[in-house]
Amino acid sequence: MLLAPLTLLAVASVILGDFNVIHTTDTHGWLLGHQKLSFPEPDYSGDLGDFSSFVAHMKQIAIEKDVDLLLVDSGDLHDGTGLSDGFPPGGVDAHDSNKFMEMLPYDVMSIGNHELYIYADTLDMYNNFIPNLHGRYLSSNANITVFNEEGEPVSVPIGNRFTKFTTRKGRRVTSLGVLYDFTGNDVNTTVQFVEDMVKEQWFAEAIAEEPDLFVLVGHMPVSYDHWPTVFDAVRAVHPLAPILIFGGHTHIRDCQQYDGRSMALESGRYMETIGWIGADLDAAKGNANNISFTRRYMDQNRVTYEYHTGQSNFTFDTSEGRNITYGLQELAVAFDLAYMYGTSPQDYTINENPYPSNGSLLSLFIEDAVPVALAINNTRASIPNIMITNSGSQRFNIFAGPFTKNDQLTASPFTDSFLYIPNITFGVASQVLPALNQAGADERRKRSEWDTELWAKGYVDMRFRAWREEMDRRAGISRRESQNLTLGYVTQDGCPGAGDDTLHTPLPYYSVPDFIGSNNPNVTDDTPIDLVFVDFIETQLLGILNGLQSGKNYTSADVDLYSPILSNEALGLYAQAMWN
Ligand SMILES: *[C@@H]1O[C@H](CO)[C@@H](O)[C@H](O)[C@H]1NC(C)=O
Ligand SMILES: *[C@@H]1O[C@H](CO)[C@@H](O)[C@H](O)[C@H]1NC(C)=O
Ligand SMILES: *[C@@H]1O[C@H](CO)[C@@H](O)[C@H](O)[C@H]1NC(C)=O
Ligand SMILES: *[C@@H]1O[C@H](CO)[C@@H](O)[C@H](O)[C@H]1NC(C)=O
Ligand SMILES: *[C@@H]1O[C@H](CO)[C@@H](O)[C@H](O)[C@H]1NC(C)=O
Ligand SMILES: *[C@@H]1O[C@H](CO)[C@@H](O)[C@H](O)[C@H]1NC(C)=O
Ligand SMILES: *[C@@H]1O[C@H](CO)[C@@H](O)[C@H](O)[C@H]1NC(C)=O
Ligand SMILES: *[C@@H]1O[C@H](CO)[C@@H](O)[C@H](O)[C@H]1NC(C)=O
Ligand SMILES: *[C@@H]1O[C@H](CO)[C@@H](O)[C@H](O)[C@H]1NC(C)=O
Ligand SMILES: *[C@@H]1O[C@H](CO)[C@@H](O)[C@H](O)[C@H]1NC(C)=O
Ligand SMILES: *[C@@H]1O[C@H](CO)[C@@H](O)[C@H](O)[C@H]1NC(C)=O
Ligand SMILES: [Zn+2]
Ligand SMILES: [Zn+2]
Repeated sequence: MLLAPLTLLAVASVILGDFNVIHTTDTHGWLLGHQKLSFPEPDYSGDLGDFSSFVAHMKQIAIEKDVDLLLVDSGDLHDGTGLSDGFPPGGVDAHDSNKFMEMLPYDVMSIGNHELYIYADTLDMYNNFIPNLHGRYLSSNANITVFNEEGEPVSVPIGNRFTKFTTRKGRRVTSLGVLYDFTGNDVNTTVQFVEDMVKEQWFAEAIAEEPDLFVLVGHMPVSYDHWPTVFDAVRAVHPLAPILIFGGHTHIRDCQQYDGRSMALESGRYMETIGWIGADLDAAKGNANNISFTRRYMDQNRVTYEYHTGQSNFTFDTSEGRNITYGLQELAVAFDLAYMYGTSPQDYTINENPYPSNGSLLSLFIEDAVPVALAINNTRASIPNIMITNSGSQRFNIFAGPFTKNDQLTASPFTDSFLYIPNITFGVASQVLPALNQAGADERRKRSEWDTELWAKGYVDMRFRAWREEMDRRAGISRRESQNLTLGYVTQDGCPGAGDDTLHTPLPYYSVPDFIGSNNPNVTDDTPIDLVFVDFIETQLLGILNGLQSGKNYTSADVDLYSPILSNEALGLYAQAMWN
């Protein structure tokens, strides 16, 4: 892909320590990278084949400089693009895309919550993926129930609980693979809370011997979560051992130092960011000094990769890298991911444009796409209506150009049904959406309980959005000076110095309400209309409706299916009808 000029930070190459780690996390099937031309997408336009070539060159450089270089991943391989989710009927999510992850020389991988929502996915990992990692796929606190040789169900760790290995330079490493306190896992999988895990006998035994360093990998944010619980448990036994932590899950770029001989890094999401830690361990050996660390968040593209490896566009690709790229392109063909519904005339974003507006994906979805899609073959289409959904129903922006099967799977993956209650007067129905949003804003305590519950089930957008909002606020001041830079992330984290490898001007950010609705029909207050909504919000909506009127106590018995069309089909049907 032709890259518009990417301005690289004016420092030399990535700073090599005598011990280095390249980190990926939350790749979610984005193995062909970001292919759209609207910024910031080109920042992330590398693919897994390019990344493989990058890793191969960096490993060669590490050998020449005689330093260590590891590659680790913090989980969430499932759910995100057509490569993982576009499989034909009877398939298993990410089964095929994971074959390409296997081709990378990962030293340690850990499990994410998205490996645990569906038992068949976990079992596929257990049977087909994990054995290829030869003991380096870690799930310290996550089990699967399988049948043993006697045909009895037994709960066993999905991968290994820990691993010990020796690096090329002879350093002894102990690794764990920890999952945050996740409760949304499927039956026949088990997640043990982190504070219970550190009390286990196996844990005490695993960390008893002092290695040259600990490399703790896990699907857990490095801020506001339980890494300190694990860190403290190790520190209590080994006051001076270097500890490197590689976290994930909130999809942000973040770094913390829990003390002067440790660093904890989180490296974003969706193959946008490649994380890097370099450490000078030799200088810290046999003393109690702080360790000198560097960390970087690299944008995932060929310009970055060629720059840091000192290769040109013609020398950069390795044959294995090319093979991975071709293989992924073949998979995209096999899954028919380029199937085109229509051509989007412009970008539609979730948070980079205000809601409502004509650049808002949420406006496009609920004001245009859902009304058009649900009118198809629907005998109620002529009855005026109001349609309501939750703003979390859209996952990723839509960009100008072809709108394909892959784009639909990426932007709008959730398979909610549309339900309705007939014969609600417009005067009442038109108050439902404002009342739903007001309820969230008024009841702060309820709101925070609700967030805690969603958090435990794996919903992380509140943290990701808060990060983006803070970035936008901070940038208000500096945006003018950085006007010549491309759009992208501008990170401020808890570690000293700058972390971003490429300077950017931050993306604008607009907050969105929890619930969004179609345009009101032009009817009088006493006109009976259909109140249409997704099943996901039924309980909340009934509560609000019963608070707004006292004529009738509405229950699930008053609710019917409005259309057989599911929410993940709406954009495709709309594109077919309007974008051709
Ligand atoms: C869970 O495992 C048990 C024992 O193997 C089995 O009887 C049960 O059907 C499984 N439950 C589900 C929902 O798969
Ligand atoms: C996980 O599996 C191990 C080994 O079978 C077992 O001892 C342990 O109790 C299991 N843990 C959980 C939380 O199910
Ligand atoms: C060592 O690191 C800690 C934590 O990062 C910091 O508080 C302390 O000031 C550092 N000490 C020295 C001597 O730099
Ligand atoms: C760089 O190499 C890639 C892969 O071989 C190719 O697709 C692309 O056109 C090349 N770009 C330039 C600017 O030569
Ligand atoms: C990639 O390499 C493997 C083995 O090296 C080979 O079997 C496979 O056909 C190659 N795939 C492509 C798409 O070239
Ligand atoms: C969207 O709104 C902006 C500002 O109101 C306007 O300039 C633009 O033409 C509109 N675009 C479309 C496609 O309607
Ligand atoms: C609508 O009905 C027609 C004719 O029965 C059918 O071909 C078409 O697939 C239906 N459309 C949808 C979206 O169900
Ligand atoms: C519609 O609701 C009104 C009261 O709001 C009621 O009088 C009327 O019978 C209802 N019609 C139907 C078809 O349920
Ligand atoms: C932006 O680029 C223009 C044209 O290259 C240059 O004249 C201007 O000084 C630059 N502005 C900043 C703030 O760097
Ligand atoms: C709404 O309907 C009324 C009465 O039919 C009509 O006068 C008015 O122009 C309509 N308003 C809009 C915005 O369509
Ligand atoms: C409304 O119906 C629900 C479900 O049947 C019931 O639990 C609730 O008490 C009823 N509320 C009123 C005010 O009648
Ligand atoms: Zn994730
Ligand atoms: Zn996650």
